[in-house]
Amino acid sequence: MTSFRGPMLRPTTGPLAKIPIYATHADRDSLRDACRFNAEVMDFLRPHVRAGISTGEIDQLAYDYTIQHGHTPACLGYNGYPNTVCTSVNEVVCHGIPDDYVLRDGDIVNIDLTSIVNGWHGDSSETFLIGEVSPSTKHLVQAAFDSMWIGIHAIKPFGRVIDIGRAIYRFAKDQGFEIVREFQGHGVGRSFHQEPGVPHFPDLQSGKAVVRPGTCLTIEPMLNEGNWKTEIDKSDGWTVRTQDRRLSAQFEHTILMTERGPEVLTLTKNGPQEGHKF
Ligand code: MF3
Ligand code: CO
Ligand code: CO
Repeated sequence: MTSFRGPMLRPTTGPLAKIPIYATHADRDSLRDACRFNAEVMDFLRPHVRAGISTGEIDQLAYDYTIQHGHTPACLGYNGYPNTVCTSVNEVVCHGIPDDYVLRDGDIVNIDLTSIVNGWHGDSSETFLIGEVSPSTKHLVQAAFDSMWIGIHAIKPFGRVIDIGRAIYRFAKDQGFEIVREFQGHGVGRSFHQEPGVPHFPDLQSGKAVVRPGTCLTIEPMLNEGNWKTEIDKSDGWTVRTQDRRLSAQFEHTILMTERGPEVLTLTKNGPQEGHKF
């Protein structure tokens, strides 16, 4: 996710590339390839994401797999980011840096992964439950997952970006959760982050963008148990936490708008599918 324009916001991943970009049919196949590979890495990581592994070990697995397949980890070195994946545990909203923290029973961890395949980006994330988590935690994760799918189904060819945020926001509030505002989805293609910005709440400014066929974007809502406000770790400059230190959960898919409607490019084989109950 990338930070959005606005007074209270600090840029972390930098401004969006300023050109509206529509994928040609050849480009769409390239995006499909990149996203398919990204999902494959997620499936490769999946059995390893359990109590007893450190977030740094997960990162190393993702790095090795990507390199062995001849592809490029997009996050590594991006605006100075030091790793292949972001691992955001519990009250960490996003951009958590893998380290020697060992996952334990009751944790939730979002793994956010972006791959570059032949110059094209595929970007997705999942929140994993470690062992037995509390019912309220499960509810948060479920709502984050469901809200992403609701956002995906809220857009039609030539619809507007704001339709996504409207649907997600309404659902999240209805479930008793708040939506993070400082970080949003984004167009994706040859650039990691490009127009349009995709707020997960009804933002009148950036919401006007039309989702023409050929638009490729991410939908990646972050839902908080408590207040929506976040803060960035002062010592590492990356880790985003909830201000109130309550939990946050997120899911992300890369979506291509086609003439027939949205096509989800980062579907995994073994991960939670639409309608999944955690
Ligand atoms: N993958 C994140 C996103 O969904 C961005 C991470 S940027 C990094 O947009 F630099 F932190 F890796
Ligand atoms: Co993203
Ligand atoms: Co991502």
